[in-house]
Amino acid sequence: MDFLTNEFMVDPKRFDGPLLVTGAGGCLGAWTMAILARSGVECVGFDLTSERHRPALVMGTEDADALNWETGDITNFDNLKEIIRKHDITAIIHYAGLQVPFCRANPALGARVNVEGTINVLQAAREIGIKRTALASSVAAHAMPPGGPWSETLYGAYKQANEHTAYVYWADWRVPSVCLRPSIVYGIARDQGMSSKSTIAIQAAALNQEYVVPFSGQLGWLYAGEAAAAFIAAVSQTGDGAPCFDLNGTCETLEGGLEVLRSIAPGAKINCDGPPLPFPANLDDSPLRNHLPDYPSISVESGIRTTYLAFQALKSQGRLPQLPE
Ligand SMILES: NC(=O)c1ccc[n+]([C@@H]2O[C@H](COP(=O)([O-])OP(=O)(O)OC[C@H]3O[C@@H](n4cnc5c(N)ncnc54)[C@H](O)[C@@H]3O)[C@@H](O)[C@H]2O)c1
Repeated sequence: MDFLTNEFMVDPKRFDGPLLVTGAGGCLGAWTMAILARSGVECVGFDLTSERHRPALVMGTEDADALNWETGDITNFDNLKEIIRKHDITAIIHYAGLQVPFCRANPALGARVNVEGTINVLQAAREIGIKRTALASSVAAHAMPPGGPWSETLYGAYKQANEHTAYVYWADWRVPSVCLRPSIVYGIARDQGMSSKSTIAIQAAALNQEYVVPFSGQLGWLYAGEAAAAFIAAVSQTGDGAPCFDLNGTCETLEGGLEVLRSIAPGAKINCDGPPLPFPANLDDSPLRNHLPDYPSISVESGIRTTYLAFQALKSQGRLPQLPE
């Protein structure tokens, strides 16, 4: 599956020590670990689960099994700090978190993981003196304060809290960080959360199954490899301040994306039916790109094509998962 990560390789010389990737078992964590490991950058995955099925989808089972991996809970500060010390970590990409439906189903757990977990990362950075920390916020943070055009969610409220917390860690203790707000991530290993359905449509096409995406209209199509590359670029330089940036990808309608998919997979029985996602779709990536070293930009056509080809490759290897419930 090397073709997935070839265009995102980075120079190991851009890093001054091993990286910790929290949430390494998730979609963005899997892509980030695959890119770093294949580039020869020392990295350690950290996740509640020891399951590596998502990294295996991106980089192959053998390489995923060979990753440095620590299983732990981001809400356990002492354990997190011990792991950071044990591996001489000098940079952290913090993805571990619970998405919109999981925060809604269990608000207190959502706050512990998403808010307290982020505080633990910043506090560990403060105590250990880490100067390269990237935090995953979300486009959902734009819904606050309430009363605007976008949907207010607990998830968005927690992400906003994290952005402000990062600011205070800089203002009070000079702990630098960069906060990125991804929009709608798609690509291999994107299999959970309300906005994963654009990817599920591509998977359904590879499986020759009918599928109806429950939303339509414009969205920020953010290819998982591009998102991971942005987070990696964010920790390839020493931080200064606690800036927060949108990471939108390309604005395109869901219908336009499905047209691309049908052009690649002419028999695909894929449709959409539902309102647009309640998040802004056309945010500007240029402030982020001006702040970071260059990282690749992937068009919707190329991202969908590569994702479809990767699902086909997994199918021929007998490794294509069934559609999620
Ligand atoms: N995927 C998107 O479209 C998107 C958009 C905006 C923001 N984000 C944010 O980016 C980050 C990564 O997203 P993703 O799509 O990879 O998510 P994901 O749901 O695929 O992965 C999250 C990972 O966090 C881990 N995790 C959960 N609770 C944990 C805990 N207590 N301790 C340690 N690990 C724990 C999970 O096991 C999982 O592997 C998340 O913070 C998410 O909110 C994602």
